[in-house]
Amino acid sequence: MLHLSNEIVEVHSKFKRNFASRFLRQLIVGIIKNIMRKKVDFLVIGSGIAGLCFALKAANFGKVCMVTKAKIDDTSTKYAQGGIAAVMYSPDTYEKHIQDTMVAGDELSDRHIVEITIRESTERVLELVEWGVDFDKTQSGKFALAKEGGHSEFRVLHHKDITGFEIEEKLILAAQRNPNIEILDNHLAVEIITQHHLGIEVNRHMSGITCYGAYIYNPKTKEVDTILSKITMMATGGIGTVYGNTTNPTVATGDGIAMVYRAKGAVRGMEFVQFHPTSLYNPSERPSFLITEAMRGAGAILKNKNGEEFMRKYDSRGSLAPRDIVARAIDNEMKTKGIDHVYLDTTLIKKEEMFQHFPNIYAKCLSIGIDPTKEMIPVVPAAHYSCGGIQVDEWGRSTITNLYASGECSSTGLHGANRLASNSLLEALVFSHRACLNAVEAIKNIDFCDQVPDWNTEGTVLNEEMVLITQSMKEVQTIMASYVGIVRSNLRLQRAFDRLEILYRETEDLYKKSILIPEICELRNVINVGYLIIRNAMERKESRGLHYSLDYPEHRDVNPTREDKL
Ligand code: FAD
Ligand code: SIN
Repeated sequence: MLHLSNEIVEVHSKFKRNFASRFLRQLIVGIIKNIMRKKVDFLVIGSGIAGLCFALKAANFGKVCMVTKAKIDDTSTKYAQGGIAAVMYSPDTYEKHIQDTMVAGDELSDRHIVEITIRESTERVLELVEWGVDFDKTQSGKFALAKEGGHSEFRVLHHKDITGFEIEEKLILAAQRNPNIEILDNHLAVEIITQHHLGIEVNRHMSGITCYGAYIYNPKTKEVDTILSKITMMATGGIGTVYGNTTNPTVATGDGIAMVYRAKGAVRGMEFVQFHPTSLYNPSERPSFLITEAMRGAGAILKNKNGEEFMRKYDSRGSLAPRDIVARAIDNEMKTKGIDHVYLDTTLIKKEEMFQHFPNIYAKCLSIGIDPTKEMIPVVPAAHYSCGGIQVDEWGRSTITNLYASGECSSTGLHGANRLASNSLLEALVFSHRACLNAVEAIKNIDFCDQVPDWNTEGTVLNEEMVLITQSMKEVQTIMASYVGIVRSNLRLQRAFDRLEILYRETEDLYKKSILIPEICELRNVINVGYLIIRNAMERKESRGLHYSLDYPEHRDVNPTREDKL
């Protein structure tokens, strides 16, 4: 008996010793990991114009870590052609640009935000020039200004037809030279960290949800790292990949919007997807090559194959009507005539202007056997820009504390139901600047949250079936293009919703079981974004701006009710 109880005592104390040493080991590992964890003042997610501008400014006030999921210049910014709208000289005025923006937004733009953006446009553009961006000038040394759809004046600053390339290149150079900015390329942000990760229940209606940083996929270790930050800037760009036919690069999978939505932050206006009227009709090419609207500003006209102008039937402004009207008119021409594309007659542009202003488009067309000085270019609408996104205020603050958003992933209220051409680079500049002004004050009262646990990999195995992910991505794109395109209806939206729900369930199941890889994160995000577009489209019982429904072809009166707003 005594022998047995001695044994029990011994087992018990051994257990206690083991438990204590295991506990101690875990504690020490935890402390070391915590010390080793990356902690930064500012975490910037995305390296387009929005992320780079914020990083360059924030670096004057603290350490910045910029993560970007592909190569640093793999952004929509790099592809921007037309340019950046700003009020520079008379006869243009802030009032005219404000009015054009309001008209394009189809009564849903937030006037206060429009005023801020336009009135700050000149200063922000000149700052780009200080960073080395070289906008084209006239012989008299003034900035050469172009005109695009919906603009009543010439006000688009540009660098030939590769404005975005010029901006991205100069901003990257400045960021790479800055000792306060660390750039981690090929690092994908998986989720933002909030109280949810501390085991606290978080819901969409509560206030005080706080961002402590983000879980970031590390391509070297193939593990998910924790980066703690005081301030996080979401600058992940657009959503074009949700549709197969898009002008956006493949990185545009709406990650920031999906992450914020999952973290229970507010996202709005997702039904307003802008289709650019004129992408080059070249079915095998992904992403679609853009034929800038500035060509229409320079005299090019949309025509059918018989060389007949058709836009005047739809709008007195003809080929330079706002994009929603032009894209819908082309869609109607294609559907009623059973054709795959229409044409842009660029032979009307003076040769000298073609070579000086549009050398990139000219070269591209020649490379596929079309001489745009002699022949019309075949064009088709393609998904181009998301007017909706993460809801932010006039300082770029999202509804999640310490989380800001800027650029295409955000919804400031500037674009309303439809974006005026060349207003998006401008919006990113203005709101990254304002977010920085606000964040450098806020940061004084923010501490790191040390209780954040590591990414949980329990129970996951390597997914050997990549085909499940690639096929699901194609299915999402087919659903969105077929039922949630330029023209929508109740039946189409319901069908899209039902189909997407199946993909959602299958993908969540796969995600929970699989060791994390970027492709499954992107698929999840694309499904989330598709869901938000469909849901917002179903909620809008009218046609307005970019959202056109066969069941509700009219505008509703705009009342200051929640539903009528974005
Ligand atoms: P982007 O420039 O797209 O950058 C997003 C960044 O986020 C990328 O670096 C991406 O890799 C990164 N990222 C995304 N997800 C993650 C993640 N999970 N983790 C880490 N990083 C992530 N607008 C105009 O005003 N004028 C124009 O002339 C014009 N022309 C255009 C032409 C084309 C072909 C296209 C596609 C767009 C055009 N636009 C134009 C729109 C404009 O270019 C974009 O809206 C703008 O550049 C978006 O900038 P951004 O910084 O928000 O996003
Ligand atoms: C274009 O050059 O047509 C694109 C401009 C924009 O998307 O703002």
